[in-house]
Amino acid sequence: MRAYDIILKKRDGKELDVEEINFMISGLVKGDIPDYQISAFLMAIFFKGMTPEEMSALTMAMVHSGETVDLSEIPGIKVDKHSSGGVGDKTSLILGPMVAAAGVTVAKMSGRGLGHTGGTLDKLESIPGFKTDLTRREFIEQVKNIQIAIVGQTGNLVPADKKLYALRDVTATVNSVPLIASSIMSKKIAGGADAIVLDVKTGSGAFMKNLEDSVELARVMVDIGSIVGKKTIAIISNMDQPLGRCVGNALEVREVIESLKGEGPDDLMELCLTLGSHMMILANKAETLDEARRKLIQVLKTGEALSKFKQMIELQGGNPEVISNLKLLPEAPFISNFNSYKKGYIHFIDAQKIGICAMKLGAGRLKVGDKIDHSVGLELLKKVGDPVDINEPLVRIHARCPEDAKQTEIDLAEAFVVKEEPADRPVLLYGAVTEKGYKAF
Ligand code: URA
Repeated sequence: MRAYDIILKKRDGKELDVEEINFMISGLVKGDIPDYQISAFLMAIFFKGMTPEEMSALTMAMVHSGETVDLSEIPGIKVDKHSSGGVGDKTSLILGPMVAAAGVTVAKMSGRGLGHTGGTLDKLESIPGFKTDLTRREFIEQVKNIQIAIVGQTGNLVPADKKLYALRDVTATVNSVPLIASSIMSKKIAGGADAIVLDVKTGSGAFMKNLEDSVELARVMVDIGSIVGKKTIAIISNMDQPLGRCVGNALEVREVIESLKGEGPDDLMELCLTLGSHMMILANKAETLDEARRKLIQVLKTGEALSKFKQMIELQGGNPEVISNLKLLPEAPFISNFNSYKKGYIHFIDAQKIGICAMKLGAGRLKVGDKIDHSVGLELLKKVGDPVDINEPLVRIHARCPEDAKQTEIDLAEAFVVKEEPADRPVLLYGAVTEKGYKAF
């Protein structure tokens, strides 16, 4: 078998068989196939797509490229959750403790931010002392003990994804349905969960910019899940504007703590309750979505969800006092406002541009391994649909210095659209994809 022939076959739109896909993935991981041939292969997939059989074969080849996690010694149904990537998306940090407090076992391996999107691990590490690099044993023992742990990947999980993602990032092949689906699902399958809730984002800040493509991505992932016997459901949610109010690591943790105290923004709370209700159903902790939602609202009200977060922080080496004293989180030295240039209503906030502004301030990384600053970021004071006066603050900028803040103000001018006529509040949740297909809400 030769990589050349396989690239040619895909380039010409033909279907690859399992052996050919396995050959490419094992050649990638062993270093036998050079990056330029893998890049050409990725571009051929980007343009010609893949059949469902090819996508399953690619996903499983990626799963078998490294170690897998066995969570079977942890009792109960382990439900994982994954977002296809967004701006201001801190749902895992609210959802995890909330569903764990309501009885769901959460053994979660999360990732770091790349490009304009943030990562759960970076957010958690803004809590002083918090460790995300538990050993496999520590991870399993913690989940058995308190029903929740959120850590970085332990061991050599899906090495093929690390290499493929790095190449996709520099060859303009990230936003391809087969490549995103296999990347996400291989990690979820290797991570050992029994069931999976996916949050597939759609809109300007997402990899999939329109609803049709997002539903297609969701369908493919749900199909892969059902082929490997893991019950999977995907919720399609809006990423046309950032989720919640804060973008940036410590700022987002602050918003998480406020949300667990019952003071979270409406869009963020609604998404958490929706995803959380599906996790409850998959874990057999509720029979209906209404019952699940009631139970989740209850653990928020009683403070059990907040206590669960505090317990997790403590066990993972972080300072649990942040819960009652938000000043213990890193704070940026320079704060300024970006004001509206006109009176009217907010029609659009470009989530991707906001994500890039936060990244340029230091909250994210341009390439793998870049160091980030946990303290910096943006607080949105207005969202789409809100009325605004001339010179009224739209964003509070948390920066390292006045020069960074000034540059951000210039960049932010392109992220907002303000018009005189009123604007509707955007739809947050579009629908769900299950094995039965797509159903709009
Ligand atoms: N998240 C992933 O893990 N992989 C992708 O390809 C896109 C989003």
